[in-house]
Amino acid sequence: METIRWNLKNNYLYNQKAIKGAAELLKSGSTVAFPTETVYGLGADATNAAAVSKIFEAKGRPQDNPLIAHVATKNQLTRVVDTYPPFVDKLIGVFAPGPLTFVLPSNGTCVENVTAGLSTIGVRIPDHPVACQLLTESDIPIAAPSANISGKPSPTTGNHVWADLQGKIAGILDAGPTGVGVESTVIDCTNEIPIILRPGGITKEQLETVVGSIMIDPTIAGDQPASPGMKYKHYSPEVPLWLVEGGYAKMQQIIDEEQKNDRRIGVIASTRTTQLLKVDNIIALGWGLPEIASHLYEALRTFKEGDVDIILCEAFPEEGIGQAIMNRLKKAASVYI
Ligand code: TXA
Ligand code: MG
Repeated sequence: METIRWNLKNNYLYNQKAIKGAAELLKSGSTVAFPTETVYGLGADATNAAAVSKIFEAKGRPQDNPLIAHVATKNQLTRVVDTYPPFVDKLIGVFAPGPLTFVLPSNGTCVENVTAGLSTIGVRIPDHPVACQLLTESDIPIAAPSANISGKPSPTTGNHVWADLQGKIAGILDAGPTGVGVESTVIDCTNEIPIILRPGGITKEQLETVVGSIMIDPTIAGDQPASPGMKYKHYSPEVPLWLVEGGYAKMQQIIDEEQKNDRRIGVIASTRTTQLLKVDNIIALGWGLPEIASHLYEALRTFKEGDVDIILCEAFPEEGIGQAIMNRLKKAASVYI
């Protein structure tokens, strides 16, 4: 399949034409990748089972992992869900549009392969001008997982999507790098107390300011996650990743030891830590946790098989968006020391 690539620039008319073209493809049952504020999504009409199955095919995604339905407005959201608890309206008021996915009772509008047969549906209103225009223009709920080959780090640039899915999807709206860099927070809103199923762009601390008490699904760190997607191998770079707790001194010690054994090391760390380490291949993610989150997946894709034997990555504090960063890094890592 030939993939149409629209390179969006500061050209209003061109962008409008591109988004219209992408909306037409979606409405006719094809798949299109588009930017959101978190990562790129691979979209298809969530009311069309044949269209949705193309997403699973292109990504090589397990069928039992449900997709998030993306909508433009709260009004569109209410068209795909059943009645929900009042705290959801409060959360929508503060965090939508934004990187927060609400798991709510489905009303059946979205087809079964979107929800993987569950009675609930994950819905979110993305905060990206291109995603918003695409959703408004097509006026259908768009099912969209991250637009990567299953198991690989999520795409935060159009180039990442192109590398993974070129030839397998009908189109891509390339608007350059996304902002947040890690996926949305997934929150189960089917009980009296909301439960975080996947940490992400909206932090637990932020949610608590609106709803008071909030739980974190205990299985996030365990083996049997409540969010089906959390059980699969994820975010994996091409070479084994060692996640290192304990600061730069311990990292330097491991680097020195492994280099003695003729192993080529690539390092991913905060900018502060990179200034203290002595090693050739090093990627600085930035100073604060939000900046680190936004550069994380790009870094995980940078070290290629054959270039280095091991990636060493610094462990970050599990506070704020650090919870999402560490959740992804623990899944990406083969060793956590
Ligand atoms: O930021 C994001 O959320 C990105 C952009 C494209 O919106 N999307 C994304 O989708 O990360 P995906 O498919 O890679 O991850 C969706 C997660 C999975 O862990 C899935 O299991 C969970 O949401 N999920 C979806 N529907 C669910 C449901 N009804 N109940 C529980 N978990 C659900
Ligand atoms: Mg994903």
